[in-house]
Order: sequence, then structure tokens, then C-alpha cells
Amino acid sequence: MTRTVYLNGAYLPETEAKVSIFDRGFLMADGVYEVTSVLGGKLVDFAGHARRLRRSLDALDMPHPVDEAELLAIHRELVRRNALGDGLIYLQVTRGAPEDRDFLFPDPEKTPPTLVLFTQAKASLTETAAARDGIRVIAIDDIRWARRDIKTVQLLYPSMGKMMAMAAGVDDAWMVEDGKVTEGTSSNAYIIKDGRIITRALSNDILHGITRAAVLRFAAEAQMQVEERSFTLEEARAADEAFITSASTFVTPVVEIDGAVLGGGTPGPLVRRLRQIYIDESRAAAI
Ligand code: PDD
Repeated sequence: MTRTVYLNGAYLPETEAKVSIFDRGFLMADGVYEVTSVLGGKLVDFAGHARRLRRSLDALDMPHPVDEAELLAIHRELVRRNALGDGLIYLQVTRGAPEDRDFLFPDPEKTPPTLVLFTQAKASLTETAAARDGIRVIAIDDIRWARRDIKTVQLLYPSMGKMMAMAAGVDDAWMVEDGKVTEGTSSNAYIIKDGRIITRALSNDILHGITRAAVLRFAAEAQMQVEERSFTLEEARAADEAFITSASTFVTPVVEIDGAVLGGGTPGPLVRRLRQIYIDESRAAAI
């Protein structure tokens, strides 16, 4: 099926949406993105994603292409035109296409940002093999740049990390810096020990996950104990349970970390409960 995508004000068949070879997203990875999940045709945590997009744009001194109301309208129109039930909406803003390659930022008056959105349909976001069985991860060095809080399209190392995981016969990788886990290649990372949920505190070292914020709020509301602090790979390998969060995976159990099997290799009770709470609450609040 040909998707209808959005490019700079126009809804187009995916084959007709074209971006310049001088676009700075293409030449310099000078762009930011968001991934918003869609459950039953409704957007999960749209306001959170819009807020983080603004933050990423401001951090890079990049112009805002449209306001939040317009952004919401575009998301909804894409859901409608593509009859999306469960799936994702990918959004990317780049610093646009100047007349030539140049390291210096172009004048925003002359070079408007490029705004692209497209949908990715999924059979289901809630009923997945990963959620049922859990995933296995390896540990890899975190060699990314120091502003991981900005959601840029510089995804080469996360891609390489997923390839390393595939080569090792597992599902994904957790990144480690100075002995401490930072995050997953495209998710935030958590362990559970003695009933306490432990995840790295927010800083420039990790992406400020929108799912993370919601999950920690729901966990606190459900009287679960949360500790926002760094944890070592050794602590992770000795955890009772572990999980990742992201807009595309929600709360997904991790049952093996760098060769150490957790909880007999099956998802534990706290992670399963947290996933259910997250899905129920997100479905109820989706717009
Ligand atoms: N990735 N950390 C990294 C490095 C990520 O790439 C992501 C999301 C997250 C989780 O953030 P959120 O809960 O806001 O989705 C954490 C998206 C899903 C992706 O690249 O496809």
C-alpha cells in the first residue's frame, strides 16, 4: 500500500515526496526527530513529544516549522489518510536545504526548515513477541556524543549497536560508559532489585524519554519504589528483573543482560504489571 506522507505543507504519496541533496539532514545529520505511538487510531502522549521537539529545536537553534496545534493537526490527518490503527508516526525537522554545502548554519530567513512526517503501521503495538517473552541484550561501549538529551538524527552508532546485537544472536544492546549503563540503543534502561525500580537520572548523557516520564509517574502512583541513579553493568546482571521503555516498545521486559539470565529467563511480575498499567493509562489518555 502506498502511504500518504507529509512534506513541507503537502500530503503526498510516499513515492512523490522528494528532499534536496543539499538538505542538511542528509549532508550533516543536522536534524531532530520524534516518534509518537498510535493506539487504536489515537496519539499517545502527543503533548510530551511536542514539548521535547521544541526543546531539541531550541538546543540546536533551529527554527520551529509549525506550532503545536498545527503539528497535532498534521499527525491526526496522517492517521486519518492512512487509516492507521496501531503504529507509529515518525517526524523529522532538519535545518533545511541551502544552495550549497557549508558547515555554517544557513540564514533561517532564506532557508526554511524541512518538515517530514510519515506513518508506520504495526499489526499491534501491545501484543508482541518481545513483550510476551522478553528480550536479550548485550552490553556495548557508549561512544556517542555528549548531548544525547537532544533527539538528533545521528543514529549511526545506535544502528551499529543493533547490528552488533544481531551478530551476537540477541535482540538489542545496552550502552555502558565508565562502567555504568546509560541507555538502550533506542530506549531507556531499567533494572529492578528487591522491589525497587532503578534507572539513570536525567542529564545530557541520555535521552529524556517521554515513555520514561510516564512510566515513572505511573510507578509512583502505584506505590512502587523508584530510584533515579546510575547502575553498573554488574548490578544489572544481578538484577531480579529489567526492562526498556520507548514510544515503540512501551515497557518491554529484558530477560538476559550480557549473558546473565534474569528471573529464569521469563518476564517478571513487576515488569508485566508496569507494562499493563502503562498501556491502560496511555490508551485512556490518547487523543
Ligand atoms: N527512540 N533513548 C534513546 C536513545 C532513544 O532513541 C529513545 C527512543 C528513547 C526512548 O524515548 P521515548 O520514550 O520518548 O520514545 C530513549 C525512538 C523510539 C526511535 O528512535 O525509534
